[in-house]
Amino acid sequence: MTHKDLHRQFVESFRHSAPYIHAHRGRTFVLVFGGEAVADPQFFNLVHDIALLHSLGIRLVLVHGARPQIESRLKARKAKLVYANGLRITDNAALACVKEAAGCVRVEIEALLSMGLSNTPMSGAHIGVTSGNFVVARPLGVRDGIDYQHTGEVRRIDGEAIRQHLADRRIVLLSPLGYSPTGEVFNLSAGEIATAAAAELQAEKLVIMAEGKPPRDSRRRLISQLSLDESTKLLESRRRLPADTKRHLQHAIQACRHGVRRAHILDRSINGALLLELFTRDGHGTLVTAETYEGLRAANIDDVGGILELIKPLEDKGVLVRRSRERLEIEIAHFLVIERDGMIIACAALYPSDKNTLAELACLAVHADYQGTGRGDALLQKIEDRAARTGIRKLVVLTTQSAHWFRERGFLPGNKSDLPVKKKDLYNYQRNSKVFFKLLN
Ligand SMILES: CC(C)(COP(=O)(O)OP(=O)(O)OC[C@H]1O[C@@H](n2cnc3c(N)ncnc32)[C@H](O)[C@@H]1OP(=O)(O)O)[C@@H](O)C(=O)NCCC(=O)NCCS
Repeated sequence: MTHKDLHRQFVESFRHSAPYIHAHRGRTFVLVFGGEAVADPQFFNLVHDIALLHSLGIRLVLVHGARPQIESRLKARKAKLVYANGLRITDNAALACVKEAAGCVRVEIEALLSMGLSNTPMSGAHIGVTSGNFVVARPLGVRDGIDYQHTGEVRRIDGEAIRQHLADRRIVLLSPLGYSPTGEVFNLSAGEIATAAAAELQAEKLVIMAEGKPPRDSRRRLISQLSLDESTKLLESRRRLPADTKRHLQHAIQACRHGVRRAHILDRSINGALLLELFTRDGHGTLVTAETYEGLRAANIDDVGGILELIKPLEDKGVLVRRSRERLEIEIAHFLVIERDGMIIACAALYPSDKNTLAELACLAVHADYQGTGRGDALLQKIEDRAARTGIRKLVVLTTQSAHWFRERGFLPGNKSDLPVKKKDLYNYQRNSKVFFKLLN
């Protein structure tokens, strides 16, 4: 290639990346990589790319793992590695290794970022890094009789504090540790922390720098893009995926379901994978995107299967009264649903009584993955509109476990006499549901 060709190529690729540079400025990206990446002699390449993103005005949260560093410390102490259901059991000896390894890895990353990246094109770029107690943890506890001891899970991310540091142009660095309000330290998974942080910060992107190749299709070609629905189907399919790939996909799905717009799974071993993915049209990894269709509408007969699937776990827990498929088919016209990506994620039903001024709100349910995001409110609002339009003045609801949810939305405690006559006869005394009513304007 001649000098002229090289120049033309440079100018073209720089121009092509300009729209991406513009689009990414001021956005928050959460980037997670394993301890393997830090141990790699080429790690400075990744740090260089991170510094470049920072200098382009991208707000960065880095989450590092420390698996190989922890394991080598455990081995050196001749301590046993104990796993159950794919999770490490962190006993006292292991926790000491975790703290040591996480501390060392953190310091190494901070040092590289502080170096101003001498001998690289980013030399002189001063990068402020902050780490701290941003992750509140709780113990995993005892599951199936196994005590996971100091292995924990994320309870909460201090989003407010992280946002402040990001606004001060600092990179926030999170280690695979969390602290409980009782002052205990827990060993957490870096992937879980990154997913929770991305959701809490409503990040533009969660970027997973994976060990090993991103997901491939049945013909072993890289899958470059997946919708949420496609990713879920891939996970549930009979294709055998490596455990790490599965976990990355689960994290990507979870982040997208909680408001992160895009999750990227990249092959960490490719030099520049991060830049290729973020600044070129096609990228080199797998993009899981949450840009989906979602709508709230009246249910039809084709939704019966989806509604049954949604309410089954709640029926099993005794939260909702059991409904047979036959009964649901007959009553389907009473239902409203929220459909997302072809899946029913929420439903509610309105049953007017004979007199038509009173109606029962029933079977209000939001899929566990989507709770706490206002969908219950949206359904209630639509039910109230539907009721008011048909002259209904009073709504009643029977609930065993969501009394406060209704009270906070203007429902008042009532008694059995508020129920429609037909319902009164069917009232199931064993369930001992509470009755609430709301007068509509
Ligand atoms: C109750 C339910 C429909 C709420 O749906 P949702 O989409 O999560 O609700 P929203 O996002 O609109 O509201 C979330 C708020 O309600 C609170 N909330 C959720 N479930 C609650 C419950 N059972 N009791 C009290 N408050 C509850 C949340 O803590 C959150 O409040 P916060 O933001 O102040 O923390 C949903 O939790 C559900 O499906 N529950 C199981 C089925 C059920 O009990 N149905 C009612 C009987 S018909």
